Amino acid sequence: MSLFSFFLLLPFLSLCLSQTPPKGFLIDCGASSGSEINGLQWIPDAEFISTGTPRNLTTPVQVSTLSNVRSFSLQGKKNCYVVQVYRGARYMVRTTYYYGGINGPGFPSPPVFDQIVDGTFWSVVNTTDDYARGLPTYYEGVFLAQGKTMSVCIGLNTYTESDPFISALEFVILADSLYNSTDFNSFGLKLVSRDSFGYSGPTIRYPDDQFDRFWEPFVHNNSANASSSNVSVSGFWNLPPEKIFQTQLGSDQLESLEFSWPQASLPNSTYYIALYFANSNGSSPRIFNIAMNGVTYYRDLNVTVSGVVVFANRWPLFGPTTITLTPVANSTKGPLINAGEIFEVLTLGGRTTTRDVTALEMVKESLQNPPLDWNGDPCMPRQYSWTGITCSEGPRIRVVTLNLKSMNLSGSLSPYVANMTALSNIWLGNNSLSGQIPDLSSLKMLETLHLEDNRFSGEIPSSLGNISSLREVFLQNNNLTGQVPSNLVGKPGLTLTISGNNLSSPPPAS
Ligand SMILES: *[C@@H]1O[C@H](CO)[C@@H](O)[C@H](O)[C@H]1NC(C)=O
Ligand SMILES: *[C@@H]1O[C@H](CO)[C@@H](O)[C@H](O)[C@H]1NC(C)=O
Ligand SMILES: *[C@@H]1O[C@H](CO)[C@@H](O)[C@H](O)[C@H]1NC(C)=O
Ligand SMILES: *[C@@H]1O[C@H](CO)[C@@H](O)[C@H](O)[C@H]1NC(C)=O
Ligand SMILES: *[C@@H]1O[C@H](CO)[C@@H](O)[C@H](O)[C@H]1NC(C)=O
Ligand SMILES: *[C@@H]1O[C@H](CO)[C@@H](O)[C@H](O)[C@H]1NC(C)=O
Ligand SMILES: *[C@@H]1O[C@H](CO)[C@@H](O)[C@H](O)[C@H]1NC(C)=O
Ligand SMILES: *[C@@H]1O[C@H](CO)[C@@H](O)[C@H](O)[C@H]1NC(C)=O
Ligand SMILES: *[C@@H]1O[C@H](CO)[C@@H](O)[C@H](O)[C@H]1NC(C)=O
Ligand SMILES: *[C@@H]1O[C@H](CO)[C@@H](O)[C@H](O)[C@H]1NC(C)=O
Ligand SMILES: *[C@@H]1O[C@H](CO)[C@@H](O)[C@H](O)[C@H]1NC(C)=O
Ligand SMILES: *[C@@H]1O[C@H](CO)[C@@H](O)[C@H](O)[C@H]1NC(C)=O
Repeated sequence: MSLFSFFLLLPFLSLCLSQTPPKGFLIDCGASSGSEINGLQWIPDAEFISTGTPRNLTTPVQVSTLSNVRSFSLQGKKNCYVVQVYRGARYMVRTTYYYGGINGPGFPSPPVFDQIVDGTFWSVVNTTDDYARGLPTYYEGVFLAQGKTMSVCIGLNTYTESDPFISALEFVILADSLYNSTDFNSFGLKLVSRDSFGYSGPTIRYPDDQFDRFWEPFVHNNSANASSSNVSVSGFWNLPPEKIFQTQLGSDQLESLEFSWPQASLPNSTYYIALYFANSNGSSPRIFNIAMNGVTYYRDLNVTVSGVVVFANRWPLFGPTTITLTPVANSTKGPLINAGEIFEVLTLGGRTTTRDVTALEMVKESLQNPPLDWNGDPCMPRQYSWTGITCSEGPRIRVVTLNLKSMNLSGSLSPYVANMTALSNIWLGNNSLSGQIPDLSSLKMLETLHLEDNRFSGEIPSSLGNISSLREVFLQNNNLTGQVPSNLVGKPGLTLTISGNNLSSPPPAS
């Protein structure tokens, strides 16, 4: 049963470890210049986004990356950061939010909004509880770079009552072995909790964690310091920091250890879980069973001195979660546990076909004032598709309608529109578009072409006559010249309107 598949890994490999800073981008949103914090380089965000306004918080903050935000108006449906990535690499993406009352005294509570990664709805961003306690909120996920760029977008929803914002955005390349039992072509991981058990100090992160993952303190009445740790973390595929093996939850008595973890009540979903164990005293074996909410997760785990991780790929959970470690009869001591990671497994939402994305980027470039939400993935998530774009259903996501009627557009229509070969409708009427009508003959599915009430000039391309599916061509009130192509005049089943141009032959009576 793949849902319950789990693995035991006894580390013996020796991978190459380096203490160089994590690779990727650490983006300080709304900052006007870069900064270095704890050995990590942060860069300003202007080159990654074209919407929103940088704002400085007026309240004091603990970390300088929180002192400024990029704030977005309630106008654009989504606002996206686009970052150059290595296709095929696996990225830890982390967003950080600290409101700081930036929307003024009328809005003491932070706005609630959505975050999107590529074409996938990632989560609701609700920082209310953390903010009330004076804390920033962070979200972390692990996603594959499926193209040359990745986007993270702030999405507005019906519950968004004031301007959304973001404080920081990080893209960190993870080693290939991390979380590699997950099929990242179809799934992403959304962090629920990553804890160092029995540890009460500040969050463990870089340089202890070479990828700057956060391991939060987690104490319980069975917290203890490990007497001595002899763990080489290089053998663990997930490369946890050594420091997590210096503390533990555990009991020397032959008794069960039970605790609630993660502390949040979970939505009904499937989870990637990795639990880390190391026995600090080889002469007293600890052997126990692991259960989650009473369901056996692993049997007869004999924790070794060099450490062991037990992970599950897609483990179903719902509501509060209790972990129980029960010693077996021939164990000499009680159970222990050093750390745990749990991620919700997210099914990826899919992406618009690259051909259409590239073409739309060119169409956007040739328009002087494209709609504000024309960034990120054009079709996905479906409730966040670009204004004026309608897309096909199914695994291959294509753009089928381009409808920018009466949008006050100027500029021209890029010839790249002809690359969007699934288009059946182009409606651009009542704008101020100028330039020539491009050759659209590659659009074999095109049924309606509405370019009326614009400033298109030049000749009507005769190649339009070769599109057999074409039913309507509205060209009235433009600045077109030359003759109406003979293969359009009187084409059966075609409605052609051409009045209000400078065409040299009289319009046909259709
Ligand atoms: C924010 O403060 C910095 C100096 O700390 C300043 O350079 C920058 O212009 C300010 N930005 C805004 C949007 O006021
Ligand atoms: C945000 O969180 C607060 C506190 O948990 C909750 O009361 C509120 O309903 C949430 N808002 C939305 C829109 O989910
Ligand atoms: C995960 O990475 C480890 C270490 O590189 C490798 O031995 C293992 O085969 C990988 N597993 C998968 C499923 O790719
Ligand atoms: C640990 O805490 C639990 C409740 O969380 C309690 O039932 C138990 O008696 C405590 N154990 C010790 C040794 O204090
Ligand atoms: C572990 O050791 C640290 C100091 O190294 C100490 O502050 C902490 O209280 C100890 N924790 C436990 C559970 O003994
Ligand atoms: C740690 O392990 C090495 C070999 O793996 C061994 O030589 C050494 O004695 C161990 N140290 C402790 C404190 O157990
Ligand atoms: C959780 O979801 C699964 C599949 O969607 C469903 O079969 C199951 O009944 C749900 N469990 C609960 C407790 O709602
Ligand atoms: C390891 O366990 C043995 C047997 O239980 C005990 O005698 C010894 O003191 C322990 N060593 C440490 C360092 O705790
Ligand atoms: C547990 O593992 C240790 C080696 O780490 C071994 O000596 C011992 O026999 C094992 N115990 C059981 C019950 O398998
Ligand atoms: C320890 O007990 C378990 C069952 O509780 C059994 O499967 C295992 O074989 C035992 N190991 C030894 C070395 O007796
Ligand atoms: C897209 O259109 C441009 C300009 O019309 C053309 O040069 C290019 O080859 C097309 N690309 C594809 C993938 O069709
Ligand atoms: C129409 O085109 C002619 C030349 O082709 C140009 O002089 C004129 O300004 C254009 N009119 C409009 C309304 O764009």
